[in-house]
Formats: sequence, C-alpha cells, structure tokens
Amino acid sequence: MAPEIFHIIKVHGQEFETYISYENILERTREIADRINSDYAGKTPLFIGVLNGVFMFAADLMKGINLSSEISFIKLSSYQDTKNTGNIQELIGLKENIKNLDIIIIEDIIDTGETISHIIKKLKQLGPRSVEIATLLLKPECFDQNIPLKYVGFKIPHKFVIGYGLDYHGQGRNLKDIYQIKDIQYH
Ligand code: IMP
Ligand code: MG
Repeated sequence: MAPEIFHIIKVHGQEFETYISYENILERTREIADRINSDYAGKTPLFIGVLNGVFMFAADLMKGINLSSEISFIKLSSYQDTKNTGNIQELIGLKENIKNLDIIIIEDIIDTGETISHIIKKLKQLGPRSVEIATLLLKPECFDQNIPLKYVGFKIPHKFVIGYGLDYHGQGRNLKDIYQIKDIQYH
C-alpha cells in the first residue's frame, strides 16, 4: 500500500506524508466496481454520493460500473436547534423518489460511523428496497456502529488523512493521492 515515491506536504502548517497512491486507489476502486457489477447484475441501483469528500471516489467508482444505474448526491447540513440545543442534521439534495429502489451509498471515509448511521436512518424512512454502503476508507478502531459495511476500500489506522477529496480545514481535496498526518494523532 505504501507508495514508492515519498512526498511530504504542508497544509495549514501541518505536515502530511504520502500514504495511498492514486494507482492503488484506482486498482482497489476497480475491484469494488467489479463486485458491485456482479452483486447487482440485472438490477438498477441508485448510487447516492455524500458530498463534499466523495466527489473523486464517486467519479472513479462510477467509471467501473456497467449496470443501468443512476447517481445522485446528498449533503448533510447541520444547524443548531433553537429550542433544544441539539445539533440537527438534515439530508439535502435528494430529489429522487427512492421507494423500492436498491440504494448504494458512496462515502469517502467512515470514522465513528455516526454520519453514515444518521444517513441510513433518514434514507430508510423513505422506503428503499435495500441500502448498502461503499466507502473508500474505514477507521475500524473508531467505528462503533452496528451497521454492515459491504464494500470497503482500505482499512486505515486512527490517523487523519487528506487528499483525493478529503480535506484538512477545507484544503487538500485536490490532491491526487491520499496523505497521512505526520506526528500528531487525530482527536
Ligand atoms: P464519522 O461520522 O465519525 O464517521 O465521520 C465522518 C466524517 O468525518 C467524514 O465524512 C469526514 O468528513 C470526517 N473525517 C473523519 N476522519 C477524517 C480524516 O481522516 N480526514 C478527513 N476527514 C475525516
Ligand atoms: Mg464524507
């Protein structure tokens, strides 16, 4: 998994080093696309990408999908509830009627799993036939939800990563490879 050429970059004053090369990402992404193609043969799934981080993975994954399918994107918008002080997250952007559809959620990274669990809860209220998850990255040490993750690209340690769509305070999404934070631990 370690790239042959090592780069150290700085984003917002923090150092990151090359971790997963774009070549390796593409190879793994093709394997996942192949599995989805055979698992969903004869079906017409709706892929739902979770923005912003997923834009690169979704683009490469979809190039390997040969099913009749559609793709849509959602975003989670957080706002402070004025009555309770809770943080409410709404799904925005879903225009499709997903009743009786086979849904494949595409995610860039699953950390604690709170985000994905919230998304699944909201989607299931809309009556889809099935919901599965395809995530490029998973941090198994942090994940504490009882949700089956059908397609996982890479299991990675509890360290912050950027690039290939993932950001550090808004920057780094444009990087072609994935980089891992140097020295300090995330959280
Ligand atoms: P979760 O709800 O804890 O699973 O967190 C998921 C969200 O946290 C992702 O969609 C990312 O926005 C963000 N996140 C978690 N770990 C990382 C990381 O290593 N790099 C960049 N973003 C991350
Ligand atoms: Mg995300």
